[in-house]
Amino acid sequence: MAANILDWTDSWFEKLDSESKADSAGSIAAKFSGEVADGKLPFCSMPFMAELMHDLDGLEDYVKSFDHMLLLGIGGSALGARALQKAFFPQQDQPCHDGPWLWIADNVCSKTLDSYLTKLPLEKTLVAVVSKSGGTIETISQYFLIREKLQQELGDNWNRNTLFVTDKEKGFLREQADELSIRTLEVPDNLGGRYSILSAVGLLPAMFMGIDYRALVEGAAEVFSPLAAPDLNADSLVNHPSFKLACWSAALMEKGFNELIFFSYIPQWACFGQWFAQLWAESLGKDGKGSQPLPATGATDQHSVNQMFLDGPRNKACLFLTCPSLPEGQPFPENIPDNFSYLKGKSFGELIHAEGLGTKMALSANNVPLVEMQMSSDSEESAGRLMGLLMAATIFTGWLIDINPVDQPAVEMGKLLAKARLGASGLQDEKDNLNAFLNTRREEQDF
Ligand code: PA5
Repeated sequence: MAANILDWTDSWFEKLDSESKADSAGSIAAKFSGEVADGKLPFCSMPFMAELMHDLDGLEDYVKSFDHMLLLGIGGSALGARALQKAFFPQQDQPCHDGPWLWIADNVCSKTLDSYLTKLPLEKTLVAVVSKSGGTIETISQYFLIREKLQQELGDNWNRNTLFVTDKEKGFLREQADELSIRTLEVPDNLGGRYSILSAVGLLPAMFMGIDYRALVEGAAEVFSPLAAPDLNADSLVNHPSFKLACWSAALMEKGFNELIFFSYIPQWACFGQWFAQLWAESLGKDGKGSQPLPATGATDQHSVNQMFLDGPRNKACLFLTCPSLPEGQPFPENIPDNFSYLKGKSFGELIHAEGLGTKMALSANNVPLVEMQMSSDSEESAGRLMGLLMAATIFTGWLIDINPVDQPAVEMGKLLAKARLGASGLQDEKDNLNAFLNTRREEQDF
């Protein structure tokens, strides 16, 4: 199989002095090896994989006996599944699809939840509740409502239609599973949501959809294997594409490039942009550092946000995703008017490559440092490699800018305030802050 390629030609790698970031390669290699050995980077070393594959094998017939999977989860517990769905199960959004169906409930939307509650045939639906912590309110609140409905419709056997993906020991879902005899798959220790796509979190829905989930894992493992090797050292790290991407990203941030476009010219992979956005933003937005990820889809966003990319503030860099081997598609007919005659003899699929090239050149001409991630194919194996590359690059970037890429402390405040607003016990500081906020005179204007 041909290799995937990172094309650095238009990246400004040297101009940004990115090489200087590699001075810390020795200490970062030692830290990475130490954390792998301590089980702190399971997304890379994947010590859980053999058992997970065994568990998935055992569950396959049961999972595939359902027509629908309703996945309750949010953030890292949903975005990977959606990226895989859109990339490798596009038929669900296409005419004449007659199952199976994956529904991802990753918001607090009563209209959507009502439609699931009233329209899904629950006896043919597997409700997969995915939450590492087992206590995320957006997910658990939906679970309470669905559980009620399942119990009403399916009686004592309701738990046959329920499966949890959660921590092996802790959390409300684990307690529920033990109490109510609900099947579970584990989210391994130290595997945060945004790094969990290649655990049961992403692989269970992938299996349901018939996606080649083993190839996803194999692709990522290829990228990870030099990093997880016990002899990782400065030289092998510097030569690894994920570390080079990290050096580039850290140098960009230092030079004021505080937005990073993820421009996908593989249309069906557009949702990897959302997956990457969460990975990058939640991992790196700390202490006033980081760069804002901007997911975009070619060619759609050429007619939307691209003007800003090209001629707005000069603070953007770009990861540009392409795949030259996408299908050629339908040939154009001969009866094409003269002003479109350049399409004659070509096929629809050629358009995306020409538009991608045009956009890439335009971004470069407008001083947007750009790395092209050129995939040899749009297969699961390639996607696994891409995910492995980006997850490792995120960790290294975090370490280079001296923040912790596996926590997300700032998002807690809003969660606690919402709980206080709903009357949760304790949380006195939050309740005081809420009172002060709500009693502030609002400066309001009708429109
Ligand atoms: O990446 C993360 O850690 C978060 O985005 C979580 O995935 C998200 O908050 C959901 O958490 P949980 O899986 O515990 O419900």
